Amino acid sequence: MTSWNFEQLITTSQQEIASAENLQVLESFRIKYLGKKGLVAEIYGSLTQASPQEKPLIGKGANDLRSQVTEAIASKKQELQTMQTKKKAGLDAVDVTIPGVFQELGHAHILSQTTRDICAIFEKLGFAIFEGPEIETEFNNFTALNIPIDHPSRDAFDTFYLEQKDPGAKDRNLLLRSQTSPAQIRVMQNHKPPLAVVSPGKVYRPDAVDASHSFMFHQIEGLLVDEDIKFADLKGLLTAFCKRFFGENIKMRFRPHFFPFTEPSAEVDISCYICGGKGCSTCGRKGWLEILGCGMVHPKVFEAVKYPKGKYEGLAFGMGVERIAMLKHGIHDIRLFFENDIRFLKQF
Ligand code: DAH
Repeated sequence: MTSWNFEQLITTSQQEIASAENLQVLESFRIKYLGKKGLVAEIYGSLTQASPQEKPLIGKGANDLRSQVTEAIASKKQELQTMQTKKKAGLDAVDVTIPGVFQELGHAHILSQTTRDICAIFEKLGFAIFEGPEIETEFNNFTALNIPIDHPSRDAFDTFYLEQKDPGAKDRNLLLRSQTSPAQIRVMQNHKPPLAVVSPGKVYRPDAVDASHSFMFHQIEGLLVDEDIKFADLKGLLTAFCKRFFGENIKMRFRPHFFPFTEPSAEVDISCYICGGKGCSTCGRKGWLEILGCGMVHPKVFEAVKYPKGKYEGLAFGMGVERIAMLKHGIHDIRLFFENDIRFLKQF
């Protein structure tokens, strides 16, 4: 009696056909199963010796095996032929001239680099870093800094106001700070002199955006308070800073100016390092570049933070990070900092 395990035969034949790596091998499997002397023919041949009960089972098994093998060979043949055509056309060949996948490495933004460089110089001079909040009270941003209630900078055209907590008490209104100077107030309210801090961060003003204005920009505030601080200390400190940051050869001048929170106050210019002071387009033919505001802390500011009257003296200064980065790197449009154009950012 002949007995065939058709299930097993179908599984094996399918595995063999799937593993054929070329058309010749596939042809050898076709012959093995479907050829004149192949397995299917052999099974049909065995029918003559089979019992009447076995005949229909063997017949059905042989039919199944034949049709499954035929189908599997046809689809494998198609697959192998497609592969061969592609190979001929060179489509799956490796093109060594195609550029690789390149992951660009990021780095700190030019404004972050400038901020770090400036702060690092003051840290070496003994200053601590203090970062104040961007949402401030009207008291810290204006009143405590001796900015009078009717000063134009308090106007809603010049400051972004937030919610009005208590319309009766103007000082408690919240706003987006328009300068980093309120950090001075926070430091003095929480620390007794001697103290020396620099405070970097974002400030906001409702200015229309153009080549030199942005509604958000960055400043770095400086404050040093002790018992015997003179204007000479301010000059010495800022001279040391400017020479380290812009180079030993630059010249400086302190021009009298007015700020409500310092007295006396000054603006500091450095000689234009593009033209060396002769006058060019960067310095507007003046030979000088204004880089910061500064002065001796006004007694009214000490009063606002409740320091004992007449006990302390201090120096303060404030500079714009964008402005300094623009001067240092010859950048002519402030908008470039915020557009996130990688071609611009990559240069620094
Ligand atoms: N807060 C001033 C501004 O935004 C800059 C400034 C000037 C800060 C003089 C100071 C200073 O601390 O003493 O224009």
